[in-house]
Amino acid sequence: MSSLKIGTFEEYQQAYEHSVNQPEDFWAGIADNFIWKKKWDNVLSWNFKDPDVKWFEGAKLNITENCLDRHLETLGDKPAIIWEPNDPNEKSRTLTYKELHREVCQFALVLKNNGAKKGDRICIYMPMLPELAIAVLACARIGAIHSVVFGGFSAQSIADRVNDAQCNIVITADGGFRGPKDLPLKPVIDEALTQCSSVDKVIVFKRSSTSVNMTKGRDIWWQDEIEKLNNNAECPAEEMDAEDMLFILYTSGSTGKPKGVVHTCGGYMVYTGYTFANVFQYNQGDVYFCTADIGWITGHSYIVYGPLSQGATVVLFEGVPTYPNAGRFWDIVQKHKVNILYTAPTAIRSLMSSGKEIPAKYDLSSLKVLGSVGEPINEEAWHWFDDNIGHNKAPIADTWWQTETGGIMIAPIAGVTKTKPGFATLPLPGVQPILVDENGKEITGNGVSGNLCIKFPWPGILRTTYGDHERCRQAYFATYKDLYFTGDGCLRDDDGYYRITGRVDDVLNVSGHRIGTAEVENAINLTQGVVESAIVGYPHDIKGQGIYAFVIAPDAKGDDSTCNAILASVTKVIGPIAKPDKIQFVSGLPKTRSGKIMRRILRKIAEGDTSNLGDTSTLLDPAVVDEIKNGAL
Ligand code: WTA
Repeated sequence: MSSLKIGTFEEYQQAYEHSVNQPEDFWAGIADNFIWKKKWDNVLSWNFKDPDVKWFEGAKLNITENCLDRHLETLGDKPAIIWEPNDPNEKSRTLTYKELHREVCQFALVLKNNGAKKGDRICIYMPMLPELAIAVLACARIGAIHSVVFGGFSAQSIADRVNDAQCNIVITADGGFRGPKDLPLKPVIDEALTQCSSVDKVIVFKRSSTSVNMTKGRDIWWQDEIEKLNNNAECPAEEMDAEDMLFILYTSGSTGKPKGVVHTCGGYMVYTGYTFANVFQYNQGDVYFCTADIGWITGHSYIVYGPLSQGATVVLFEGVPTYPNAGRFWDIVQKHKVNILYTAPTAIRSLMSSGKEIPAKYDLSSLKVLGSVGEPINEEAWHWFDDNIGHNKAPIADTWWQTETGGIMIAPIAGVTKTKPGFATLPLPGVQPILVDENGKEITGNGVSGNLCIKFPWPGILRTTYGDHERCRQAYFATYKDLYFTGDGCLRDDDGYYRITGRVDDVLNVSGHRIGTAEVENAINLTQGVVESAIVGYPHDIKGQGIYAFVIAPDAKGDDSTCNAILASVTKVIGPIAKPDKIQFVSGLPKTRSGKIMRRILRKIAEGDTSNLGDTSTLLDPAVVDEIKNGAL
């Protein structure tokens, strides 16, 4: 067994070398830090052509035994989850490892009593309550595959995801609270399920006073089902193969339909546990607060699985950073004496705009490590975070990774790797990044930029996209031969440090959320009167990128009713997060003679940089560019 934890930069360098020269030996040593029902026959087999990647083949485990059972003896009475409600006047709730274990076992029994079996797909659509983590872990306990859908997605998005995975059970809540708003959930599920025939049970947690209709024979209350157990909490963990599916999480790509990214039990567990312990330098007793929602990969890997496998205490927050005021995060840090805070640039920028006087009012001296994820962090936000939150004493881990990578890939190890504002710094052990040009030729040396690829598998890599392996191959492994392509552009500076510059495909990053341009265009095009549309990103002070829509709607004449109808359509088809910030009506779009929209030109116009639009001579109708330029918002 090799020690999981890196403590010095020399140790990082040694671990890195080891991971590249003897990857199997390296990861076997790390995997020995976890409990297995049976050890593996083979550490790794792989090719990126098909792709076919298997880690710890032949091993048997259950991830919940690593996240719960194994801590009971030594950490049983330690808080696993500290839940902070949306309303600061409501009492927070703490679940010790013993309590969390019990609740997970009980809810796992509820799932079983309602027909859930190993391999079933279960959709979870819940607010940020401990019960969301409990539902996730209960699925894992019985070997059911969870598919969490973020609470802000629309009925249509839920229906698409439920149908794609053919889920038989949905777990939800009547409603929830986010900031000043009530968040109805069950009514959204009801609407979604009119399109889904695979679902036969809906389990509803009672959280709010939202009035709900319960469909007889299908809908049941979580709390009633727990009562029926008469205190039984015995639920042995299902034995899983290392390569059995653990979960599906949908994410946007450059084509229309979200992809169901699949992660498996063994490698994902090892990778999230290892990266959590190292990047944040978690020490027993530390309180760790990750502000993400469990509906995104950050919440899966760094609220639930990674921290719990390491016996950490995790703060789980129901609300938003600005409610009841822009001091809420700092209030939580002070109240729970948070040592490690993991958040997103968009939150930092939004809190920054309220002024540094706000954090100055709170005692933030408990903070030892800060983390950032989801999008490039601009230098101004980095320094603000460093100066006003960490008081220049808490190293910032700018962590680059993706839904598809399962865990953090390029990031400083807090306090060990020297940081540089705006840089994710160096690859973690096991991660072999390379930069390539358009033709897939490796760009070597330092002081260069290119498209970021990874050339060797790590345990957390996605295994497939649910139900469509060819799509996985096309999206990630076909662009460049024998490489995993991230979709990101990247710069490697003279010190060999990596800085992610943003997506190079048709995916936007709005407030740290991935939005596929094609998905939004499809939703806009459903609006009555709209003939065609093209969306691009533009720099936005708070969101990082805003959404700029160019829309052809001949009868619209730029009136508000068409704009409103477009916004309503996007909200209905995807959810409010994908609503365009700007809508410009145009009579045509710049297209090549072969009919391809030249987004490069639209991007420049949206950015307000029309001085050099490049070569427009290949356009079908160059005149349209002037019209669009003159009407730019
Ligand atoms: C972007 C979130 C710069 C990137 C964990 C990536 C980042 C996409 C960073 C994945 C970072 C994430 N610096 N860009 N530290 N972290 N990104 O799947 O474009 O929601 O491809 O995973 O977010 O987003 P996803």
